[in-house]
Amino acid sequence: MNDLITDYYDNLNPGAFSDCECRTPRSNSCLDCFQSQFFGGNEISYDCEEKRKLYVLRYFPVHCAENYRGAKNIPSDVIDNWFEDGHVNILSVGGGPGSDICGVLEYLEDEARSRQVDLSVDVVRLDIEDQWDEVFDDVMERFFPWASYRTVHLDVNDGIDLSSDGNFDMATLSYLTSELSSEACLNLADEVDSLLVDGGVLMINDRPEDVVEQDIRSMFDRIEVSYEEYSLSAWAGYRYPNDIADVVGPKFNMNSSIFIGVKE
Ligand SMILES: C[S@@+](CC[C@H](N)C(=O)[O-])C[C@H]1O[C@@H](n2cnc3c(N)ncnc32)[C@H](O)[C@@H]1O
Repeated sequence: MNDLITDYYDNLNPGAFSDCECRTPRSNSCLDCFQSQFFGGNEISYDCEEKRKLYVLRYFPVHCAENYRGAKNIPSDVIDNWFEDGHVNILSVGGGPGSDICGVLEYLEDEARSRQVDLSVDVVRLDIEDQWDEVFDDVMERFFPWASYRTVHLDVNDGIDLSSDGNFDMATLSYLTSELSSEACLNLADEVDSLLVDGGVLMINDRPEDVVEQDIRSMFDRIEVSYEEYSLSAWAGYRYPNDIADVVGPKFNMNSSIFIGVKE
């Protein structure tokens, strides 16, 4: 992870802000622009390359850690079945740079190591943006060259048509529901449900805010999948170069609610 952080930090463009025409109102630097987009009704957008690099620097490791912790809470009989089959199909909805996939695949790597059994993994990542592709490809090539993956660009508000990909053993949604309306969340629940196999896992990670958590509970209720929810707040446990941390201020503690249900 240290190399990823160092490389993205070294690639920040210090001159980008002075020439920028799409700054968040009243921001005074790229970092300020990036942070203040999440507040005050500002537009959240990852169109800007500097914002994408800052997202990786500030949030990638902690979102990865949250999804790793979530995956550890998948019922053990489900994981046993995956290893007995030797194969698992995973769908990442709103996958962006791949932090959720990174957490899940790290967990599966640890399981494969401790069980001394191989597992083949196919990942489909959905995202509305194509600008994250380069980062996601980089993450997969650096950390998981053994996994096969593909990306599909679509707006989940228009439905999810993946007829050629078959069904999925797991779907992850990490920090997507907070960017959707309550109605869109319910529609998304239906779409994801139709793509999961019986026994498939739905894992949703997002901000620990009442409105967001209620939307997520409504999604599970809508598809009649019972679930467990976990509040994550401990140290995320990753190493990070001190000099870069002083500048970009990554989140070192997890801070999310993660919901896990198994379709019956
Ligand atoms: C906050 S990022 C989360 C990225 C990653 N899952 C994580 O946990 O760090 C939200 C992602 O959802 C994508 N997204 C937002 N709205 C979407 C939509 N309507 N359809 C598909 N993807 C969407 C964004 O492009 C972005 O990559």
